[in-house]
Amino acid sequence: MLKVGLGQDMHRLCQGGPLILGGLSIDAEVQAIAHSDGDALIHAIIDALVTPICGENIGSLFPDNDPRYRSVDSVSLLQAVRDRFLQGVSIHNMDCVIILDQPKLGPYLPAMSKRIASILGLESHQVSIKAKTSEKTAPDRIEARVVSLIEVK
Ligand code: C5P
Ligand code: MG
Repeated sequence: MLKVGLGQDMHRLCQGGPLILGGLSIDAEVQAIAHSDGDALIHAIIDALVTPICGENIGSLFPDNDPRYRSVDSVSLLQAVRDRFLQGVSIHNMDCVIILDQPKLGPYLPAMSKRIASILGLESHQVSIKAKTSEKTAPDRIEARVVSLIEVK
């Protein structure tokens, strides 16, 4: 059965980098405020995959008041999701948008696609990512939205 998934995540920003995003550590003047490492893109990807498969979401799987997940590397959460839920699931593609005023993310996007694709056993072209500013309406926030198309056997 073909299913679409939708994931969204948002974090406040504070001064001081690096910014952890899409499994990369980006040299930036801001970082996400979070219980985990605040990787909004990976958090949105997890929801875009897990909810259509089993109805769970990142908060039900990895509660943000659980000390085990304090400062956790979100890549390890995505790997856990892969191992637990993605056997027998074929990901057709994911399209992602990151909303962030600064820094400009264009130079980082190819490496981000490659990193996420390699974790999930995909080709880079199956993980498309674009960036938009908030047009200064949310300068202290990072947001990610992801749609996925998956085949569940
Ligand atoms: O939000 P806006 O349409 O003004 O963004 C213009 C372009 O700047 C985007 O299409 C994208 O290519 C780039 N951008 C970026 N990094 C950001 C925000 C936008 O590379 N953090
Ligand atoms: Mg998050």
